[in-house]
Amino acid sequence: MKEPVGVTITGAAGQISYSLIFRVASGEMLGSDQPVIIKLLEITPALGALRGVRMEVEDSAFPLLRDIICTDDAEIAFKDSHFGLLVGARPRGKGMERKDLLEANANIFSLQGKAINEVASRKIKILVVGNPANTNALIVAKNAPGIDSKQITAMTRLDHNRSLTQLAQKIDSQIDLIRRVTIWGNHSSTQYPDLHHCLVGDIPALSLIDDEWYINNLIPSVQQRGASIIKARGASSAASAANAAVMHMQNWVHGSRDEDWVSMGVVSDGSYGIEHGLVYSFPCTCADGDWNIVKNLKINALSRQKMTATQLELIEERDAVAHLFK
Ligand code: NAD
Ligand code: LMR
Repeated sequence: MKEPVGVTITGAAGQISYSLIFRVASGEMLGSDQPVIIKLLEITPALGALRGVRMEVEDSAFPLLRDIICTDDAEIAFKDSHFGLLVGARPRGKGMERKDLLEANANIFSLQGKAINEVASRKIKILVVGNPANTNALIVAKNAPGIDSKQITAMTRLDHNRSLTQLAQKIDSQIDLIRRVTIWGNHSSTQYPDLHHCLVGDIPALSLIDDEWYINNLIPSVQQRGASIIKARGASSAASAANAAVMHMQNWVHGSRDEDWVSMGVVSDGSYGIEHGLVYSFPCTCADGDWNIVKNLKINALSRQKMTATQLELIEERDAVAHLFK
């Protein structure tokens, strides 16, 4: 057995965490040989509800769970943590865009960035789930200069998974035969689900579907899937978001599949002409606990136009919160 590692989950009494905490405690995220200390952060008024969640986690008798800490103090929650799942933030309601949450949620991420900078392990791997996830991750990175910005990521894996399933259903394929789907850009309605490099087995996906369906159905449907769920459920996606968070971290820690890649919001190094420093979703391969952007993919005119549109939205979001970059 390995030494236990600290996993901090924020927004721990919320919907996503109600699924996520149990999957982390079971070992699904980090492996069946990795004991965990789970540290749950909430705002003070939610500590009562969090006590109930804690009772349920205890009642699950997870063999890998070494301790649970519940707190409303970010410095306690992140102390020495090796993993940070930053979920706590307000979700959007019907008719809102995710960027409408920027003002409400940005302060949360600047305060947590500072706490991470002060007390977390220098090796912490961070996934920001709370919306608008890309720009919140940027705020964390700017407020945690002592943490390598490569360790701070935003979640677009749910969009990646949504694209996989919609394609699989259209062509009646098993999901695991589909490789090299890409989400470019922002986790928002400007994101660009790109199938130009996607293979089904060894067959190019775009040779199996018509352009009309790809452009007028798949792209907008993935871009709007979060809103469709809010409309149908009356609440934003939760179990599928927790699942995507588990998969994102699993791949980051244990590696992505051979001959495949995953989509991750990461700090741009200027690849594909995307402005340096923006948190932008790229195709990434993972190995040895690290990720790398897939380089040298051919980008056609349609892709370039869509990649630029989502970049412009991220620039606007960044400029709106630049006062929090200290
Ligand atoms: P929720 O309202 O059920 O839970 C959020 C929790 O965060 C609440 O319990 C709240 O008390 C807590 N919280 C608020 N401020 C906090 C702070 N400063 N510190 C710690 N906790 C705090 O919402 P949810 O459905 O769990 O969604 C959480 C976030 O995740 C939302 O912003 C939502 O839009 C986002 N989300 C992102 C994705 C993605 O793919 N990136 C997918 C689904 C949801
Ligand atoms: C999602 O994609 O389901 C989440 O980001 C929630 C939302 O606001 O769409």
